[in-house]
Amino acid sequence: MSRRNKITIVGAGNVGATAAHWAAQKHLGDIVLVDIVQGVPQGKALDLAEAAPVMGFDLKIVGTNGYDETADSDVVVITAGVPRKKDPVTGKFTSRDELVEINRKIVGGVTREIASRSPNAVLICVSNPLDAMCHVMYAESGFPKERVIGMAGVLDTARYKYFISEALNVSVDDIHGMVLGGHGDTMVPLPSHTSVAGIPLTELLPQDKIDAIIQRTRGGGGEIVGLLGYSGYYAPAAASVAMVEAIVRDRKRVLPCAALLSGEYGYKDLFIGVPCVLGKGGVEKVIEMKLGDKEKGMLEISANAVRELVALLPYGKGQAT
Ligand code: APR
Repeated sequence: MSRRNKITIVGAGNVGATAAHWAAQKHLGDIVLVDIVQGVPQGKALDLAEAAPVMGFDLKIVGTNGYDETADSDVVVITAGVPRKKDPVTGKFTSRDELVEINRKIVGGVTREIASRSPNAVLICVSNPLDAMCHVMYAESGFPKERVIGMAGVLDTARYKYFISEALNVSVDDIHGMVLGGHGDTMVPLPSHTSVAGIPLTELLPQDKIDAIIQRTRGGGGEIVGLLGYSGYYAPAAASVAMVEAIVRDRKRVLPCAALLSGEYGYKDLFIGVPCVLGKGGVEKVIEMKLGDKEKGMLEISANAVRELVALLPYGKGQAT
């Protein structure tokens, strides 16, 4: 009997459950939802499975509080953790840095459980602070670097492309470009590499409009938190599922992902958002593109921000080559 792809999603909260929904709708494989809260992964999995006759997906979808059901997964998306929240008293948001200590313990524990049961899986990290949590997953899993990938660039790029399509009133399908660097205030949008159906963006929008879009993209996560009071999840889940799809269908898509660099772009032992070819093996190639001096400078600021977070962890620190 042939076997379907198996996708585990750890954390059946907003991002995890929404990712399960879209992965099912795209028929990407059987799904296991894991969470520590009793009843939640089971309830969401059953609810989603009951949608199958309406939506027409023939998949096994299970929810659990344990890890035995996750054995031999092909891809594991880890969203477990505490999201950014707005303090009701001070009105201040939890910073990504403040999350390091809490989420490192959660993500480390989850990674050990997963790695022991699915030694060949590709791990996708969604938990924040993203770049730091990638290092936790890499260290705790012992997996080769190709199989530990962070979801940041696809989400940041999606926001960037959406804002451009909105400004020009053209289809999102025709916007090409990407956002590199770390997830957060130090991301590196590349307007000089952005086009609309091949037409350079710089010919279509004035610089002040492009700058405003870049600013909005940088603050994209915070904008949603400001409105909702908690993190967004439709776009993060969609971005995670795009990566899962590229892997399980071996599509060799070129997507911006947080990958552990070994000298590319002048960085070593640091997870940074760079263009990657994603296929069955995970990150099959890191594409090195030519960056201008300004972009290199922005990538360096971004790399420094990741280094600061990584320095809070009890693992090796990233160094520039
Ligand atoms: N094991 C399994 N699940 C856990 C664990 C754990 N040790 N600890 C927490 N969880 C679960 C929570 O019970 C919750 O259901 O992780 C889920 C997180 O879901 P939400 O709180 O809804 O957060 P979400 O918006 O989905 O964000 C998840 O992605 O974007 C990042 O910063 C965000 O790190 C956060 C993650």
